[in-house]
Amino acid sequence: MEYKELMLKAIEAKKMAYVPYSNFHVGAALLTKSGKVYTGCNIECASYGGTNCAERTAIFKAVSEGEKEFVAIAVTGDDNTYTYPCGICRQVIVEFGKNIKIIVGKNEEEYKVYSIDDLLPHSFTPEDLGH
Ligand code: THU
Repeated sequence: MEYKELMLKAIEAKKMAYVPYSNFHVGAALLTKSGKVYTGCNIECASYGGTNCAERTAIFKAVSEGEKEFVAIAVTGDDNTYTYPCGICRQVIVEFGKNIKIIVGKNEEEYKVYSIDDLLPHSFTPEDLGH
């Protein structure tokens, strides 16, 4: 699957964002090695700490359905800026591999590609716990 197509799915997922507090809509689309795509949106909570980012929604959906091998995750927020995964999401992404690609996009034409190792260098990973 092309990054553009993955980004289109993230843009579509953004429509489901539940953001009554920030009004900042984020969508994510996670591509698994098996070729499936799991999407996610951010979900806010009146007790703000309960908020879940779009990236983690997509990852948790995938893991809860038995997927643990990921190729790439596309993320999109505001159309005018590049929305990068927050620190917590970076840590959750690297849990599943240092080579996962992160595609951050304003839209399906304007996006940048990184690897999670670029965005979270020198990370603490399962290897550090002997896994
Ligand atoms: N947010 C995400 O969903 N992903 C990110 O990468 C950055 C932040 C959400 C969390 C919250 O609902 C809103 O954006 C403002 O922080």
